[in-house]
Amino acid sequence: MNQDQLKKSVGYAVIDFIPPGSIIGIGTGTTIINFITHALKSIKHIIKGTVSSSVISTTYLKREGIKVFDLNQISSLVLYIDSADEINSNLEMIKGGGGALTKEKIISNFANKFICIVDESKKVEYLGKFPVPIEIIPLSYNYISKEIIKLGGIPVLRQNIVTENNNIIIDVHNLDISNPLNMENFINSLPGVVTVGIFANRTADIALIGTNSGIKTMRK
Ligand code: A5P
Repeated sequence: MNQDQLKKSVGYAVIDFIPPGSIIGIGTGTTIINFITHALKSIKHIIKGTVSSSVISTTYLKREGIKVFDLNQISSLVLYIDSADEINSNLEMIKGGGGALTKEKIISNFANKFICIVDESKKVEYLGKFPVPIEIIPLSYNYISKEIIKLGGIPVLRQNIVTENNNIIIDVHNLDISNPLNMENFINSLPGVVTVGIFANRTADIALIGTNSGIKTMRK
């Protein structure tokens, strides 16, 4: 199977976890667009609706006739479904390659359960080969870049991007993330950081990994 077929297969696999009548949180990225336009579309009549982590996901959801609620309209969320740029065996992740990390972190923290759907190329032993996205307030760019360099990272400003929250993103290469929780907490503590794309406080609860020999399931 090619990568696209693997993405489609994990999209269909996550359907079994969706409670009928529920509102579910929806992430962002190519895996999620594949999920919306195939698997989710095929069961849209059994859910009440969704909350969305980005304008692009909202556009695809509405195009399929799937209702999108504002997060502030609902009091609880049973399930959040999203992909990742990297995931390790503790179900810690790097996310934000698609730039939607802040809304993804808010919605995944609000949700009772987070299921991460990925193709096998995303499963890693150690996080950090994929550059860590950090959404920051524009004024803090020089300050945060200096702090990141002190950590041994190489910050690269993502070009031609303003986030949906009117901020900018730096992608940090070469970061040693042997302790994802500490690194997430430290970067979060820098003034000007809105969201760091390390998901170690809010990990996934379940990961469904599409491989050529079938779907592999990892749980906390
Ligand atoms: C979006 O901001 C990201 O967190 C995505 O979930 C992640 O980048 C995975 O995207 P793909 O499915 O496109 O690889």
